[in-house]
Amino acid sequence: MRRITIAAMGAVLALGLAACSGSGAGGDDSTEAAAADPADLTVGVAMPTQTSERWIADGDAVEKGLTEAGYKVDLQFAGDDIPTQQQQIDQMITKGADLLIIASIDGTALATQLQAAADANIPVIAYDRLIRDSENVDFYVTFDNYNVGVQQATALLVGLGLLNADGSAGDATGPFNIELFAGSLDDNNAHFFYKGAMDTLQEYIDAGTLVVKSGQTDIEQVATLRWLQETAQKRMEDLLTSAYSDGSKVQGVLSPYDGLSRGIITALQNAGYGPTIADGMPIVTGQDAEIASVKLINDDVQSSTIFKDTRKLAEQAVVSAQSFLAGEEPEANDTETYDNGVKVVPSYLLESDIVYKDNIQSLLIDSGYWTEDQVASGQA
Ligand code: GAL
Repeated sequence: MRRITIAAMGAVLALGLAACSGSGAGGDDSTEAAAADPADLTVGVAMPTQTSERWIADGDAVEKGLTEAGYKVDLQFAGDDIPTQQQQIDQMITKGADLLIIASIDGTALATQLQAAADANIPVIAYDRLIRDSENVDFYVTFDNYNVGVQQATALLVGLGLLNADGSAGDATGPFNIELFAGSLDDNNAHFFYKGAMDTLQEYIDAGTLVVKSGQTDIEQVATLRWLQETAQKRMEDLLTSAYSDGSKVQGVLSPYDGLSRGIITALQNAGYGPTIADGMPIVTGQDAEIASVKLINDDVQSSTIFKDTRKLAEQAVVSAQSFLAGEEPEANDTETYDNGVKVVPSYLLESDIVYKDNIQSLLIDSGYWTEDQVASGQA
């Protein structure tokens, strides 16, 4: 915190910023606060990719929040390429960033960059994805990722009729054939999602109510490098030709992310399933409430998704950044869960919601996340 040396000044500024959070602070250009005027501070924001609309929304929301709070922002997307992200962060440091907010591509590949940041006294906030194997991660803003996995599995059970949405036992008895997908193994979140999901599904698998016909249940077998839609589509195609060539049908698919869900659905449609759930499309879960998938849910093709309000995550990142830049520690609500291999990173966890067709209106439209027209068209 070289650039912000006067603690009292920092505290005054923090109060001012907290009071104005999200609504356009930064108006304080009195000489007293000049040493830590947000206008003199730059926040580097490193996002993984623009191929998924959620990260574009995250980038935009973080940039908007920081700009409204008066900071300069250096926002970069790395095209899901690890060396590109490393270079972008190196450059942010060289150009004098005062704080970094990073959503990593490979959570284990940034130790060198984070060391350079620490050497220059630049605080680092891990955004949504934990950065692993480094002492130099100061804070983590994310969702309760284990619970996201529980919600995905719950949505699968509800879709199959084994549970009711209120958690009580449903009328269906099974057995149901299901297949499992996980995210990218280099993303810490993928492990939390899968663990939460499997802890929920295991009793049904043990009881024979759910049958993973391919036999592929280890995360290494079901993972999807870089969360790529095409990779999930290809694996679903392979599963259909290997495990279902006897004429049996797959009835449910645990998918941890909407992009993968769309690839899985394409493979299923190409193999003659559906087009809608009523026509035999399996129950497919998701995550992120991406608009193309919300339309599919509205059209009875995809069964569910998990809504993680990126506006709230961005706001939390901005509030945490303001604390650091005012020389203070951000408020954490979890100091136990996220061990990055070197230390437990203090975290702020947000809650997520399961979206089915019947609560698109209340969760996504009424909250202003998507409009009715966007849901109808599937376009942002
Ligand atoms: C995860 C993130 C998910 C999803 C996925 C693919 O890290 O938590 O919400 O976006 O990446 O981008």
